[in-house]
Amino acid sequence: MLEKLAKTQVPIHELLAKRWSPRAFDPNQTVSREQITALLEAARWAPSCRGEEPWRFLVFDKHTNLAAWEKAFSCLDESNQKWVKNAPLLILATAVGTFNHNGQPNRWAPYDCGAASENICLQATHLGLITHQMGGFKLAKTHELLGLPVEATALAMIAIGYQASPDILEGDYKTRELAERQRKPLAENFFEGQWGVAFSG
Ligand SMILES: Cc1cc2nc3c(=O)[nH]c(=O)nc-3n(C[C@H](O)[C@H](O)[C@H](O)COP(=O)(O)O)c2cc1C
Repeated sequence: MLEKLAKTQVPIHELLAKRWSPRAFDPNQTVSREQITALLEAARWAPSCRGEEPWRFLVFDKHTNLAAWEKAFSCLDESNQKWVKNAPLLILATAVGTFNHNGQPNRWAPYDCGAASENICLQATHLGLITHQMGGFKLAKTHELLGLPVEATALAMIAIGYQASPDILEGDYKTRELAERQRKPLAENFFEGQWGVAFSG
């Protein structure tokens, strides 16, 4: 298993350090229904503004419903399809953009949906699975083909499964799989007291 532990100034939780976004999925291993349920429970228990739970997640399990998985797969950009073809599970993260109690816009909906999605990724890491979130999908086609109601917005497709050797990947994807993970220095994006004043640790 190719690991790419995050390099940090001080130790962070193992799950956070371990999670990354591989593209090499094992086409021969499926994700069990119990594992899928655990992923959804992890998302369900995410925090949300006013406890609105604005997320709606759609599961596409290649093992139990190939036709539905193929529909979701067809919505992805070609560049993503090249490696997602081996992923046994796709989950579409969507958010409802209005509050239930008054119908007013909920500008925190994407924030909450992102938190729930990261819960899925971390729970998957805990279960020995890999995840790769994608914004590279055709929005209009996704809404139409997957029957999303007007109040929901598709935000990301998440590919989930077991890791395979990078050798399974074509050309440039293999190089990228083996490349070191990059992050900007802490001081560049993290401020203290006021905007632009770097947190100094
Ligand atoms: C909202 C979102 C959209 C993304 N879209 C894509 C995508 O379409 N294709 C892809 O290969 N990776 C995609 N990624 C993965 C990112 O490139 C990846 O998370 C980032 O480079 C950091 O790498 P790491 O997750 O391994 O730490 C996306 C990630 C997020 C959170």
